[in-house]
Amino acid sequence: MTGPTRPVVAARLGWEDEYRRGRWGYLADAVESARYAAIAAHIGPTALVLDVGCGASVLYDVLGGPRRPGAYLGVDWSLAALRSGGWGPGHGVVCGDVNDPPVRGRSDVIVLSEVLYYLDRPMDVVDRLHASLTDHGVLLITLYRPTVDRHPEWARYIDALAAGLLVRFPDMPPAEVVRTGRRTWTLHALPAPGSG
Ligand SMILES: C[S@@+](CC[C@H](N)C(=O)[O-])C[C@H]1O[C@@H](n2cnc3c(N)ncnc32)[C@H](O)[C@@H]1O
Repeated sequence: MTGPTRPVVAARLGWEDEYRRGRWGYLADAVESARYAAIAAHIGPTALVLDVGCGASVLYDVLGGPRRPGAYLGVDWSLAALRSGGWGPGHGVVCGDVNDPPVRGRSDVIVLSEVLYYLDRPMDVVDRLHASLTDHGVLLITLYRPTVDRHPEWARYIDALAAGLLVRFPDMPPAEVVRTGRRTWTLHALPAPGSG
């Protein structure tokens, strides 16, 4: 990707430490719930879901948690995050790197919720995941959109990332805008190759 440089982000151990200290606990707060609801609206009850960079079980819980009839697999490289989630029997989580996920096979829905802008090669990951959708599957990507005045570097970087998605996938439907209070996200729903 060309354009603005990504601000510095935590390496794997940094995430581990941040989850242990509760830094990401706010993701379960009500203010974030609109984003999870917008993601869940794209996911049928029996869809085979791969949640990449799943963190704790916030999205999983919104999808029904242990009562969810469809399969769910989460992947994250932070054991502390995975251990803080409440995963039900019959659903799985795997500790691994998004860049080389220990997961094979195809999924109906692949989720990258608040993950893409932490990755070194985001478009490579998007390409790989997009290619592993089932026919008529969908790749769901959410991007937090900070305002330029509060977080100028992040705002520019994430704008460029969203623009890069459009260049790479020009037929992608327009992104949904999700807002709660002062927080805004875009939700990009990328249909499986050949099904758009
Ligand atoms: C902001 S949290 C979002 C968590 C979850 N997707 C959600 O929306 O609640 C970002 C997550 O991405 C994970 N992550 C970041 N880089 C990763 C990588 N290279 N491989 C696996 N997980 C990664 C972090 O450990 C963290 O759990």
